[in-house]
Formats: sequence, structure tokens, C-alpha cells
Amino acid sequence: MKHLINLTDHTTDEIQHVLAVGHRLRAERDAGGNEPILAGKTLGMFFEKPSLRTRVSFEQGMYELGGNAIVLGQDEVGLGQRESVADFTRVIAGMVQGIMARVYHHAALEEMARFSGVPVINALSDHSHPCQALADIMTMQDEFGDDLAGRTIAFIGDGNNVARSLAVICEKLGMTFVHSGPADYPLTDCPAPVQAVADPREAVKRADAVYADTFVSMGQEGEKAARLKVFEAYQVNEALVAAAPGHAIVLHCLPAYRGVEITDAVMDGPQSRVFAQAHNRLHAQKGLLAVLMGNM
Ligand code: CP
Ligand code: NVA
Repeated sequence: MKHLINLTDHTTDEIQHVLAVGHRLRAERDAGGNEPILAGKTLGMFFEKPSLRTRVSFEQGMYELGGNAIVLGQDEVGLGQRESVADFTRVIAGMVQGIMARVYHHAALEEMARFSGVPVINALSDHSHPCQALADIMTMQDEFGDDLAGRTIAFIGDGNNVARSLAVICEKLGMTFVHSGPADYPLTDCPAPVQAVADPREAVKRADAVYADTFVSMGQEGEKAARLKVFEAYQVNEALVAAAPGHAIVLHCLPAYRGVEITDAVMDGPQSRVFAQAHNRLHAQKGLLAVLMGNM
């Protein structure tokens, strides 16, 4: 594994290895701390959009592994305006040992990977969010064991970046991915199988995890009013969770718009694992950093 731009670029074994390293580093951390395996190494982090979990997990992850991180925003870099993607990448790749970028256009990440001699990590684009999918799978493994083959994720809502990465990781791990959302918002351009089920109650019937995300992703703010109307029937609420098997857990990548795509009762209810899932971002990211930058 050189970069993580698309999960489709990687084998099941490579993905399982990153997850296993993440679990191992978490256990070591719980037992007192990690070895400084990334000492002397720096991750350059670039954000074109806001972030809480991604920024903190990568920056704290580098710190816990003995390395350093530099955080850059679009107001400083001016990607595509002050400087081209190629020039940005050629400059920063000569100074740091890894690049993590959150961008509007997925093509910018692919261009970075072409121009970079150091690993490039997709920290969310309009197309996908592979780092989130790794943490989501860790959370399911915590619940159901390492082998998730045969398990089902039912994603309720927009056919978006988070859904696309989940569909791919499900295929890689022998899982089923179900999507339920308005007919006009399907999961398009998805390189993995998707079971599209119009009725959300039907969609969650065999789910091991019921998954929610915002109806209005970053960059779609102009469509907010229209989206909130059409997605109303796809709220993850107590009635919907009651239609899922009793053992099903509820996941949300966060940030959550409480009372919109998910209710307080579900977010804070007994089946919710959303905060463990958010914390697993740290452990999944450390697994990824250890593999890409520490040759683990
Ligand atoms: N889930 C996630 O990526 O959160 P942030 O946007 O806060 O990084
Ligand atoms: N689909 C959301 C995920 C946020 C982590 C977005 O792109 O804004």
C-alpha cells in the first residue's frame, strides 16, 4: 500500500492488515502507550473543508506515534488559485513524509498521488471517505468479531461519499451493503455492489448496522431546503431502529444534525455506537499511518 486514495486500489489482505494494526496500536495505547515508530516523520495535513474528527485523529495519531503534523487550511494554501495542485504537491512532498488532504474534488487527490513521492491519504472528497470506512469497520469488529463476512450495513439517506466507501469496504470484506434513500438521490458511480431498497424499514430488516449521515454534505449547502424535504422519510428514529434486528448497532460518521437525519433517542440510545465509532477514527488512522509511513 503506497497511498490511500480509493479503497478499490487495495486488496482485502491490505485492508485487513491496516485494521489489525489499528486494533494492535489501540491495545498498546490502553496498556500504557505506543512506541515512537514515526519519530522524525511529519504528516502534512491540508483541509479545503471543515473537520473535527479527521483533524484530531490524524494530528493526535501522529503525536502518539512519536511524529509531527502540520495543519494547513485552504485560506493559507489557496489550492488551485495561489498554487496548482501539482506544484503544491511537489513542494510539500519534498519536506514531509506523508500528505493527508480533504478536498472538494476527488481528482485533486488523484493528481496529488501522481506527483507525490510520499504517501497521500484521502481525508474525504466529494467521491469517498475511506478513512471513515476503516473506523466504521473497526467499530463493527468490536461488536461482532474480526470476521464480518455475511454481515450487513443498511445505509439510510443520501447516496454520498461515506456510503460509497462503505459499499467498497463491504465488498472487500464479504459483507452486504444496502442503501435506502429517495429515488432521485441514488448511490451513483459506485464500483461495488449496492442493494437499493426503497423502503427504509425493509432496508434495515436484516441489518447488523444501521448507518446515518447528514442529508446535506459539505459543499451542498445551497440545496439544503430541497434536500431536507425530500429526505424527511429517511430519518433514523426509534421506529426505524425497531424494524431492525435487536442486535443491530447504529452508526453515524458525525457531525450529526440531531432531529434531522437521526433523533436524540437513537443517538443516545442503547444501540448507538457513534462515539466509540468516532474514537475509532484515532485508532484506524494510527493503523493507516503506521502502515503507510512506518512500513508496518
Ligand atoms: N466524520 C468525519 O470525517 O468528521 P469530520 O468532518 O469532523 O472530520
Ligand atoms: N457526507 C458528509 C460526511 C462528513 C464527515 C460530508 O461530506 O459532508
